[in-house]
Amino acid sequence: MIAAYSATSQARVNAALETLFIAPSPELARLYEAMRYSVMNGGKRVRPLLAYAACEALGGKAEQANGAACAVELIHAYSLVHDDLPAMDDDDLRRGQPTTHKKFDEACAILAGDGLQSLAFSALLDPRLSHAEADIRLQMVTALAQAAGPAGMVGGQAIDLGSVGLKLDQKALEYMHRHKTGALIEVSVKLGALASGRAEKDELKSLQTYARAIGLAFQVQDDILDVESDTETLGKRQGADIARDKPTYPALLGLDAAKAYALELRDQALHALRPFDAGAEPLRDLARYIVERRS
Ligand code: IPE
Ligand code: IPE
Ligand code: MG
Ligand code: MG
Ligand code: MG
Repeated sequence: MIAAYSATSQARVNAALETLFIAPSPELARLYEAMRYSVMNGGKRVRPLLAYAACEALGGKAEQANGAACAVELIHAYSLVHDDLPAMDDDDLRRGQPTTHKKFDEACAILAGDGLQSLAFSALLDPRLSHAEADIRLQMVTALAQAAGPAGMVGGQAIDLGSVGLKLDQKALEYMHRHKTGALIEVSVKLGALASGRAEKDELKSLQTYARAIGLAFQVQDDILDVESDTETLGKRQGADIARDKPTYPALLGLDAAKAYALELRDQALHALRPFDAGAEPLRDLARYIVERRS
């Protein structure tokens, strides 16, 4: 089920993303090539899947969430390009290929990341990708700006970099993970729900509870995979957190307790979806997938 849903959703978002990397002049060919390279290089597309699944859970058509799906993947891709830079995690491998600064150069990677961030907001508002009413668009832009920015992902990354070698307690670790990864996952669900044009307040609240739980679970599982997966499967360097003495859930709680916590968060997420009917099945499958995935 999740495999078929993923394949359809990945094809949908990839087709929409493909349209966004057309250089307006030959001088910009390299910059656009670097942006395209950073996005169209595989990736599980979990955030677009969540946007589509949230839209459909509320009775919308998946296509209505194309702008939202592209926007969250573009912000995510930008965050990875910058996360991999020498000044941050200094990684050479991403999605099984050289990181953007390795394939191009550092300045180009910084600018490609900057460009992807702006492109995300253009995609969210692109009339070819989204038909949402003006007031809904305003809510979407506000939500994405908050989730991506200093009170969201960027803030989480700042805490992450400031915590290397420190011993965070569970509360501080959770705060960091909720920002650096959770915020964008939460907003993926919210934008998808808003894109349906049918989101009621109580539904948004339940979806937010769901998204908060899987957002944290996603980074807990990412930390677990850094310990027990391998570079080939991950497409990024296994053991990088340990090598850099990053604060992670396995480092704090131990591997078994970290795994148990991920499952507990999955159950919290599933519990939050109780008011929804079978239309929310893809969201339920995604909650299970997030803690079972091997890459
Ligand atoms: C990796 O995200 C970075 C985190 C926020 C944990 P993903 O595991 O979603 O990476 P891709 O998009 O599939 O490469
Ligand atoms: C990345 O966290 C979070 C963001 C890019 C916002 P990680 O540094 O753990 O991601 P990976 O492991 O490099 O994919
Ligand atoms: Mg990092
Ligand atoms: Mg990293
Ligand atoms: Mg990681």
